[in-house]
Amino acid sequence: MRTQVAIIGAGPAGLLLSHLLEAEGVDSVVVETRSRDYVESRIRAGILEQSTVDLLTDVGLGARLAAEGDRHRGIYLQWPHERQHLDFVDLIGRTVTVYGQTEVQKDLGRARDAAGQPIHYGVTGTALHDLDSEHPYVTFTDAEGTQQRLDADVVVGCDGSFGPSRAAVPEAARQTWQRAYPYSWLGILADVAPSTDELIYAWHPNGFALHSMRSSSVSRFYLQVPPETDAGMWSDGQIWDALAERLGHGEAGWQLTPGPITAKSVLPMHSFVQQPMRYCRLFLAGDAAHIVPPTGAKGLNLAVADVALLAPALVALLRRGDPGPAGAYSATALRRVWRCTHFSWWMTTMLHTGGAGADPFEAQLQLSQLRWVTSSEAGARGLAENYAGLPIGF
Ligand code: FAD
Ligand code: DHB
Repeated sequence: MRTQVAIIGAGPAGLLLSHLLEAEGVDSVVVETRSRDYVESRIRAGILEQSTVDLLTDVGLGARLAAEGDRHRGIYLQWPHERQHLDFVDLIGRTVTVYGQTEVQKDLGRARDAAGQPIHYGVTGTALHDLDSEHPYVTFTDAEGTQQRLDADVVVGCDGSFGPSRAAVPEAARQTWQRAYPYSWLGILADVAPSTDELIYAWHPNGFALHSMRSSSVSRFYLQVPPETDAGMWSDGQIWDALAERLGHGEAGWQLTPGPITAKSVLPMHSFVQQPMRYCRLFLAGDAAHIVPPTGAKGLNLAVADVALLAPALVALLRRGDPGPAGAYSATALRRVWRCTHFSWWMTTMLHTGGAGADPFEAQLQLSQLRWVTSSEAGARGLAENYAGLPIGF
């Protein structure tokens, strides 16, 4: 097989890249280890920044998003006896939209079907070759068990945090930074109407909690738990009790409504950055190059921002022979990556507490910071700009 761009990974980064390239007349082939069903049903992110919504809309992927996405003006930040609203529209004139990654993935899948995009699901043994030559290629075994070779002008690693692309860059040519946080999130999905109009991020001495949602009848919640937690260690009753305690803010008149839990999983919390995001004929995008802890809702948005930058750079390279934008891709993308890495680390460390062995000094610093970002316009604007407001190309 031969194509212009070999894309490894059919997550949001890989499929959106193939969509953007096709619109500019550049062809690509996507290879993916998982099945299409698996990719479209795995529950992950739920919040789209306005720049993500604008981009998806501009490239013809906005119809269902406009009809079913729920636009929010802001978020609540809370701690015991306080629940404060930050209004992003008032602060910076931008909104966020609740629309699950599962739905983005389905919209992308349908659009790629309509375009006749070649996507090989269920492959094994993906390997990258000759990246430092003019003729890189990818090998894999397809779902029928046939060994395949895909020749390309460039290879793009959109294969997330477990794929082979990031390690295909020779060690001497890459630098990495990472941090593991001493807690995980227990995430649940429940068939119950949200007990809030907008997301609640709650600081609590027992640990962080987040009330999010997917629709008017489906709610999404997260609880800070110790890193070695197994989802099965928490019964449904224990989960609802902990959520009610951590999300209750001590004021009369607010109650959490429980409902049937339909999914339960534990997410580890990491920061990771690998740079540069380009090595010869290999480009990295999305989680393949960087991971953020989920507290700032940045992971999916960052993957979209990467490919929004990479697609025109590849079009310039492959259609016009102009290497300039591709040469600038890594440095430009990394500015936003580090901004989001900082913001996600900052939100995470401001909101997660130490549980039993908590440092009381740190808790006071966190509470002071929460009071500042919710009472000072400068503090609130800073949070709003990072959460909702970074333009594509920042
Ligand atoms: P991915 O979506 O990971 O896609 C990579 C694709 O590459 C996958 O489909 C994978 O199967 C495929 N692949 C891997 N190896 C190979 C191979 N060898 N050959 C071919 N294909 C391969 N972000 C938030 O903002 N909020 C959240 O609540 C949130 N929850 C998350 C929960 C989980 C369990 C995870 C893992 C991530 C979560 N994220 C969240 C992060 C967000 O979902 C990611 O940032 C986003 O999916 C990145 O998109 P991507 O396309 O770069 O990577
Ligand atoms: C969701 C996940 C996040 O990490 C976040 O900060 C907000 C919402 C969600 O899955 O809905």
